[in-house]
Amino acid sequence: MADVTIESILQENRSFKPDAAFVETAQINSLAAYEELYSKAQADPQTFWAELATQELDWFQHWDQVLDWQPPFAKWFVNGKINISYNCLDRHLTTWRKNKAALIWEGEPGDSRTLTYAQLYREVCQFANVLKQLGVKKGDLVGVYMPMIPEAAIAMLACARIGAAHSVVFGGFSAEALRDRLIDAQAKLVITADGGWRKDAIVPLKEQVDKALANQAVPSVENVLVVKRTQQDIAMEPGRDHWWHELQKTASADCPAEPMDSEDMLFVLYTSGSTGKPKGVVHTTGGYNLYTHVTTKWVFDLQDTDVYWCTADVGWITGHSYIVYGPLSNGATTLMYEGAPRASNPGCFWDVIEKYGVTIFYTAPTAIRAFIKMGEHLPKARNLSSLRLLGTVGEPINPEAWMWYYRVIGGDRCPIVDTWWQTETGGHMITSLPGAIPMKPGSATRPFPGILADIVDLEGNPVPANQGGYLVVRHPWPGMMRTVYGDAERFRRTYWEHIPPKDGQYLYFAGDGARKDEDGYFWVMGRVDDVISVSGHRLGTMEIESALVSHPAVAEAAVVGKPDALKGEEIVAFITLDSEAKASETLAKELKQHVVSEIGALARPGEIRFSDALPKTRSGKIMRRLLRSLASGEEVSGDTSTLEDRSVLDKLRQGN
Ligand code: PRX
Repeated sequence: MADVTIESILQENRSFKPDAAFVETAQINSLAAYEELYSKAQADPQTFWAELATQELDWFQHWDQVLDWQPPFAKWFVNGKINISYNCLDRHLTTWRKNKAALIWEGEPGDSRTLTYAQLYREVCQFANVLKQLGVKKGDLVGVYMPMIPEAAIAMLACARIGAAHSVVFGGFSAEALRDRLIDAQAKLVITADGGWRKDAIVPLKEQVDKALANQAVPSVENVLVVKRTQQDIAMEPGRDHWWHELQKTASADCPAEPMDSEDMLFVLYTSGSTGKPKGVVHTTGGYNLYTHVTTKWVFDLQDTDVYWCTADVGWITGHSYIVYGPLSNGATTLMYEGAPRASNPGCFWDVIEKYGVTIFYTAPTAIRAFIKMGEHLPKARNLSSLRLLGTVGEPINPEAWMWYYRVIGGDRCPIVDTWWQTETGGHMITSLPGAIPMKPGSATRPFPGILADIVDLEGNPVPANQGGYLVVRHPWPGMMRTVYGDAERFRRTYWEHIPPKDGQYLYFAGDGARKDEDGYFWVMGRVDDVISVSGHRLGTMEIESALVSHPAVAEAAVVGKPDALKGEEIVAFITLDSEAKASETLAKELKQHVVSEIGALARPGEIRFSDALPKTRSGKIMRRLLRSLASGEEVSGDTSTLEDRSVLDKLRQGN
């Protein structure tokens, strides 16, 4: 982190007020209303959250204390008893929503399913009983490695129902990455599918699970449940592997939701950090339920007639919070799409919007840049008039991409909510409220009520308007992560020590650089640590370097990101070879493939550069700043005085 200067170069002065027709029906419908809510929450965060918890959620038992804050460890709604599956399902069955569509699903080959709240409830209860039959108990951990099919949501809700924590691993991760995560989580059971459809091909999920579990590599896993999705042949290991549909058929639909302690673990989700292996971000039950519920309700201005579509994968936090828990807790209709735009149907997203009359569309800047490239004739050929609100998440959105999204997809009438948040924060933190906060393209705008966000220097002092600094949060919030699974010290070190407590107040350090303008709008500039964001997915340089070094030809590797018009960043790997090995195109290809099999296709380096040595400080630390400049073809500027061997830089410039 010492290797970082934060400089803000983006100058963007456009501002857009939400459309009058939108404001007319919006829940929070003026800047004054937002500011009033914000001030109220700021003055007394505990009362603010407690009132919402009472109004918005069903509790089996009231809490004794709203917040127990022993920095950096927070407990929300202490001794409250609640179940998130109950809040997402059971409580809607006694209302008119019983027969409302809870989940609309569209498969890539064009098949589809709709589950009402009553139907989803039944599936979840049955599957919860299947889990129980296989010995899963409250407190156990279940691995989920699934395509984007309704069973992914059913699996998560069933775990939550019986008090087992889930750990969803993105289906694009390799067998090795899956194995590491299952080992760390000590998963007792894995839920998967024979495969899933993506870009006209089958992702062989079960095959990856078999590889991950081969030779008893994950001794904690006793059973594997397999959904039949693609119908291709797969191996089933007798005694260990079971077909979902066979057990589901005979399972009872009677499964009352387990009263969980508000602070019981709901899930672990792995995310990349700047050092070491991925960390298991732990979220608990009551606070997470409340936070995802309220942010979904206000940020998406959810109305009962909405058809809401978030294009994320359930393997990421966005899928957890804003496909499954937040929307269902609100009794919304949430749409789930299995595939991705592909050569055979580049306009598939617009088809889905037209087919279902989607009203709220939430996607990522990397997808928007891809839409721009594919051409506006595709959305223009469909009727997108049902849309009333757009959202983005995952990385800063370039103002020009924002303008395109606003004009071409939103028809100049839909507000855009640019939502800044993280796996760690559980839900939206800085975002506009669409009927209240004027938008500035490229800015995530203002903090959500109750979120005391600020920009500070390394000592924790607030920096003046428009000066770059570190994005921090000053007060705990209900959706915050509670710890790193099995490593509380790492939690403290990563998020609470980079910037020391100031006047007794602990500051949550998000790892992002940002500035605040004269109107209090936040402009997030990106990570200040060694995390690369490829298509909005976080990848730790350390993980990719470890994968490269595990290849016998590699002596040392340093990985940096280089700006990429489509993906945000592309991975460039600088490699020094073992004395026996020779640099070649073939070896470069082999190393790229090696990373794919160690981590997954999302981590494939775009470029491999061989070099005799890497630029290091005298203490042996690789100077990534220099490599970043070299990778993007910029002049190396700034201080190079700590460089141990200056000739390395010249050699690298000459490309050897
Ligand atoms: O750098 C920020 C960026 O994504 C990081 C969080 O990544 P992850 O935990 O994978 O969660 C992604 C989905 C919530 C942040 O530290 N980021 C996320 N949203 C935005 C963003 N950067 C700028 N603007 C955003 N709206």
